[in-house]
Amino acid sequence: MRKRIEELILEAGRKARAETSDEPEPQYTGDVEFPIECKVGRGLEGAVASTTKVGYVNGARGWLVYRGHNIFDLAAYSTYEETAYVLLFGALPTKSQLDEFKQELKSKRGVPAPVMEVLRQISPKTHPMSALRTAVSMLGNLDPNADDTSVEAETKVAIQLIAMFPTLTGAVARLRWNKEPLQPNPELDHAANLLYLITGDAPDELKERVLDIALILHADHGMNASTFTTMVVNSSLSDMYGSVTAGVASLKGPLHGGANERVLYDLEEIGEPENVDAWFAKADATKRKVMGFGHRVYKAYDPRARILGPLAGLLVEHHPHEAKLYKIATRLETVVCGKMAEKKIFPNVDFYAGLVYRAVGIETAMMTPIFAVSRVAGWTARALEYLGDNRIYRPRAIYTGPIHLDYRPMGSRG
Ligand code: ACO
Repeated sequence: MRKRIEELILEAGRKARAETSDEPEPQYTGDVEFPIECKVGRGLEGAVASTTKVGYVNGARGWLVYRGHNIFDLAAYSTYEETAYVLLFGALPTKSQLDEFKQELKSKRGVPAPVMEVLRQISPKTHPMSALRTAVSMLGNLDPNADDTSVEAETKVAIQLIAMFPTLTGAVARLRWNKEPLQPNPELDHAANLLYLITGDAPDELKERVLDIALILHADHGMNASTFTTMVVNSSLSDMYGSVTAGVASLKGPLHGGANERVLYDLEEIGEPENVDAWFAKADATKRKVMGFGHRVYKAYDPRARILGPLAGLLVEHHPHEAKLYKIATRLETVVCGKMAEKKIFPNVDFYAGLVYRAVGIETAMMTPIFAVSRVAGWTARALEYLGDNRIYRPRAIYTGPIHLDYRPMGSRG
């Protein structure tokens, strides 16, 4: 099974290289001196906020690189724990470094009881991302060293948060259905433990490996909204818990991490594969955005979707309960890409991620927290890198309102 998964990923990598071969090869540029010239659009589009060695996205070629390693290699050969190590510490670990890191993560999975108490008080109707956000914030209240903003102290917090996110997510998932949260299982690695904490079952080899790969694929992605949010908060020398709390809040939105669950709602709304064409024609006519398509940076096929698409197909071969949704999805991809080729609209990471999560047994409402379980590594890696040479983020807005208005007394305002 592992070999088959590896081959699917390497084949996706070969396709990615073949389809974008006419784009110029980017070169390593070395250090950059600020200030640099760049054209800035609304929403800071095009703005350069910092330099980084954590990760690289090339939207024209459809490349994603963590610390110099391309995402196809990491997905084929690495694990989430190893990938998190690479993001945080800058290079592939030796065997003993990885063993030690995995052990440290396992030892830090337990969540303090008061956090669980807070989660119990949150209504099951609350969005799981809002519950997760509150839990992370509460963790910060319980740590007497939370205000130590040295790189060393915040690195410890980062590792603790990476370790605890599956436990928090599992608790949120179970409390929604009035089920008792489970204790982390030290026999299981990160992805398998996450699934166990949600479903109560240790997953089979296929589910574990595919979820592990999905976590690798979501771990970092440039200056996206939630990463930038985390970095902005951390740059005021606030604290890592507050910074990550803000990252969770930002990831929730449907234009960002929240798109993965919306994809599933769209697929369910379509209902049958033969409804796809008519559904899309109506969406197109009413300018409704199709969730899981388009990207601010990728104007080529998102490499993460290239990997997750075939993996979703493999999962439904073995767990056919989501076969119909998968058929709808593949037809929707054909129709949307056919119609939107000129605008360079392709599936993004969220399009097949939801199907993968559903096929491994995770309900739709929990999909964005799964994204957060992974992305916490990228958020913290980048916040820590920036903290090493910190400068508070402070862009400007251009004021477009009036300036010399008279202050009229209340009685004369009409
Ligand atoms: N469905 C239909 N049309 C689309 C879509 C889509 N999903 N995405 C972009 N377009 C069209 C726009 O309508 C626009 O057309 P126009 O030029 O005729 O007005 C054109 O493509 C450019 O789109 P913008 O929205 O300007 O692109 P932008 O870079 O601002 O937005 C975004 C990127 C927000 C991701 C957008 O593509 C979108 O809303 N997608 C759906 C939500 C989604 O899947 N988000 C997840 C992104 S990945 C992530 O954050 C993890």
